[in-house]
Amino acid sequence: MHVSYEVPRLSVSSAALGAADVDLIIIPIAQDHTASAVGAYDSVFGGDLGSALERGEFRAKACEIYVPRTPGKDWRATRVVFIGGGPRAEIDAERMRRMAVTAAQAARCQRHSRLAWADVEPGTLSTTARVELIAEGVTFANFDNGVHKSKNDRQFFIKQAIILTGPDAAAAAATGRATGESINAARVLINEPGNFLTPRMLAERAQNLASVPGITAEVLDERAIESLGMGMLLGVARGSVEPPRLLVLRYEPAGAPAGQTLALVGKGVTFDTGGISLKPADGMERMKDDMAGGATVVAALRSIALQKLPLRAMAIVPMTENMPGGKAIKPGDILRAASGLTVEVNNTDAEGRLILGDALWYARQLGATHVIDVATLTGAVVVALGKTTTGLFGTPEPWVTHIRNAAAQAGEKVWPLPLFEEYREQLKSEIADMVNSPGRPAGSITAAMFLKEFAGDGAWAHLDIAGTAWAEESKPWQPKGATGTMIRTLIDVARSGFPGV
Ligand code: BES
Ligand code: MN
Ligand code: ZN
Repeated sequence: MHVSYEVPRLSVSSAALGAADVDLIIIPIAQDHTASAVGAYDSVFGGDLGSALERGEFRAKACEIYVPRTPGKDWRATRVVFIGGGPRAEIDAERMRRMAVTAAQAARCQRHSRLAWADVEPGTLSTTARVELIAEGVTFANFDNGVHKSKNDRQFFIKQAIILTGPDAAAAAATGRATGESINAARVLINEPGNFLTPRMLAERAQNLASVPGITAEVLDERAIESLGMGMLLGVARGSVEPPRLLVLRYEPAGAPAGQTLALVGKGVTFDTGGISLKPADGMERMKDDMAGGATVVAALRSIALQKLPLRAMAIVPMTENMPGGKAIKPGDILRAASGLTVEVNNTDAEGRLILGDALWYARQLGATHVIDVATLTGAVVVALGKTTTGLFGTPEPWVTHIRNAAAQAGEKVWPLPLFEEYREQLKSEIADMVNSPGRPAGSITAAMFLKEFAGDGAWAHLDIAGTAWAEESKPWQPKGATGTMIRTLIDVARSGFPGV
């Protein structure tokens, strides 16, 4: 049996580079490196680095790799890889993580199972931040999405990684490794096809992922969902023979302030055909990733619990297929939400907002004061922001800014879009309280406006990851497939506590 990832043994050491007992040493180097740094390496590699830089064979551009001649006999490692950083002032969290993933990926491809990272390039980061990102990146790279291949020659993993840095970095390395592991576990779920991940299977696997000290889990079945009156979740689920589930994870550490609870709500559509408003065949297979938001919030809560962060938090994931079965809801049908609002379903493909509406309402019922939902919600957000940037929506403004700052800290790109009252007009229905599909203009905004109707009065934000959850092409720092985006941002939101809202 193939595995999707392995978590490397990870340690920190203040040993000199030459003394590290590994197969390969990775050395980051900024484009504006100093002559003395290059000189020091040149004495080890017989002038190799200096001449490569001079010839322009290696320019130390971001994530550029250079393998110099083997180090002298006084080094224990037999291989070295230089990883370019670009200009030092540009080496932020995202760049450092990409460098770590790229270099560790190269190590794996070259079948080196024991590596060391020389923490010699500070970039713009603190030592703690850097070590954490390096550990996370190396763990992230130790991932192989060929689990379903009968023959797989890529099953080679890094077994051991040592970060050569100053003292006191062990905790940061452990945190980074745990984050990387949570992200990989989420990527496994997101990559999994619909027949391997029905709502019931997702509930079970998500529950397993979250079975760490401090988290209690509850899985509501279709009867429990019905007794809560969640007509929107049940309505979407009607089109499938697979029953829906609602996963509720709670993390309530002793001593956490009682007045505030963070709820992370994630869209868990295990496959989105569009329902009776059927999607075109071309590219529909991508819709197996429509539970990315759900996997994201579960992975984030897991990391929050592993880090023993001092706040109350929960994760809520409504899980269903969106199928065009004989009992499926039809365009024009009216559903009654758990909140009491009625919705005219003019397009069954706008299913995410329906199931999230019930889940957001439930988050408030359970006492959430600060809510963030994460969802592959609209194709329109790809039109607005492309495939690099997650759409951010919410209210009040300080809560949105708080999330924006956390994303910047985490090195993930988000950008705010407005929720002006004028957009509400588009939600109007002749015969119900609102429609679920308000037409093409401002499609990701009106989707967020719909969610807002169910998010209650407290702080709420929505992250539309339809453009960012899936990488369409392979990059050295991100193989094709699930990205695991926003897990780090959610962790950083929880780490930075609640702003005054
Ligand atoms: N899951 C899709 C959104 C999506 C589209 C994610 C492309 C990733 C890539 C969502 O359920 C959906 O179908 N949204 C519709 C909404 C419309 C009918 C109002 C859309 O974006 O077309
Ligand atoms: Mn849809
Ligand atoms: Zn969907």
